[in-house]
Amino acid sequence: MNEIRDAILADQLDAIGGLAVPESYRAVVVRKDEQDMFEGVATRDKDPRKSLHVQDVATPELAPGEALVAVMASSVNYNTVWTSIFEPVSTFGFLERYGRVSELTKRHDLPYHIVGSDLAGVVLRVGPGVNKWKPGDEVVAHCLSVELEDPAGHDDTMMDPQQRIWGFETNFGGLAELALVKSNQLMPKPAHLSWEEAAAPGLVNSTAYRQLVSRNGANMKQGDTVLIWGASGGLGSYATQMALNGGAIPVCVVSSPEKAEIVRRMGAELIIDRSAEGYKFWKDEHNQDPKEWQRLGKKIRELTGGEDVDIVFEHPGRETFGASVYVAKKGGTIVTCASTSGYMHQYDNRYLWMNLKKILSSHFANYKEAWEANRLIDKGLIHPTLSKVYPMEEVGQAALDVHKNAHQGKVGVLTLAPEEGLGVKDAEKREKHVDAINRFRGV
Ligand SMILES: NC(=O)c1ccc[n+]([C@@H]2O[C@H](COP(=O)([O-])OP(=O)(O)OC[C@H]3O[C@@H](n4cnc5c(N)ncnc54)[C@H](OP(=O)(O)O)[C@@H]3O)[C@@H](O)[C@H]2O)c1
Repeated sequence: MNEIRDAILADQLDAIGGLAVPESYRAVVVRKDEQDMFEGVATRDKDPRKSLHVQDVATPELAPGEALVAVMASSVNYNTVWTSIFEPVSTFGFLERYGRVSELTKRHDLPYHIVGSDLAGVVLRVGPGVNKWKPGDEVVAHCLSVELEDPAGHDDTMMDPQQRIWGFETNFGGLAELALVKSNQLMPKPAHLSWEEAAAPGLVNSTAYRQLVSRNGANMKQGDTVLIWGASGGLGSYATQMALNGGAIPVCVVSSPEKAEIVRRMGAELIIDRSAEGYKFWKDEHNQDPKEWQRLGKKIRELTGGEDVDIVFEHPGRETFGASVYVAKKGGTIVTCASTSGYMHQYDNRYLWMNLKKILSSHFANYKEAWEANRLIDKGLIHPTLSKVYPMEEVGQAALDVHKNAHQGKVGVLTLAPEEGLGVKDAEKREKHVDAINRFRGV
């Protein structure tokens, strides 16, 4: 593994294909025999530092259409938090089901799950039938894994019945020294970014792109007013940039003055600090308080000069969904991709149908959407929102930060890269964007 790392660090990428593939590598895993370890523990008290381990794992065999990547850096997504606390289900069920598809997918059904749905690194080997990529290519990977053996996936790849999120519903994820991907997950690494910066946007940037910009999502247009929950978080920090780039007007919801400051620095002007406002959308476990929805709606109108929002960018779920449906404009769209605070939503349907609002679902992104989202990063139109970077050994703490909502933007993890700041190939382009690239660092 050291030879591979040294060749990458020395920029001897032509030599990569000639180096031996190690039989094992270090990876971040959860263990099947620990999947019940948090039984009876409250969600907030489940500690990823106890369940995420860094251990040696066997290198999987490479199959047709796949690539083995030497991973220089990865990042923490909320899906790694879900895997590490075994909620809402243990991800070993996904691996067992995938393992039943074919002889080759059986490789994924192991007593450990290598997690992680982002990477930046260098292609080490490609399997038969891969022509677009070769050893030595510097890449990032999106996390859509599809089989595409069914007609359903050939219009929009997210519709493939065998659609999975790599590193969450498959094994051999990106929080490791090596990763196994389907070659159609690979995309060029933006040359002006370091390894950890390039690894940060992937999953959330692509998801925000489909959810907000794509015609498969809210199809945002110039002038749209967009309520963005968690505007300084993983998804929200990219949605905010996309709204501003696209000529829309983001109304950013955050939970502290520090987070308000960071979205202001991105260029947002209309900001709501939900903690300062003290919204309490639920009176108790079963009943919501429509007066609180109204209070949010009034605040939005104050900020927008009397307008309601065309689009609500939803992901907190149960806690906010009733309010989100209420505050959307007549004919507006509530587009949801998650339920962080609970998946059994409750809302007053009268406000939906009488005002012809739409609830739209969105999930990750198809190959084209992920490519377009990566292109925005490459063009310097959207920037990584990396705040903090941990070594792989401290991945448990990194996941705990995200679980506790103690982070900003994205949290990065160094895998093969020995330190931050390496891998930049286009210093001139970087110089143009350096302030924006560093906007989230150290806050
Ligand atoms: N379907 C998909 O493809 C997909 C893709 C990516 C993520 N997701 C899911 O989307 C969710 C968010 O992911 P992320 O990466 O953006 O996470 P994140 O980095 O933790 O950001 C989420 C933000 O939401 C806000 N928030 C959290 N709980 C809230 C609540 N109860 N009420 C209002 N705001 C709340 C927080 O901001 P403030 O505290 O500042 O308000 C937080 O920073 C997760 O559940 C994740 O699994 C789904």
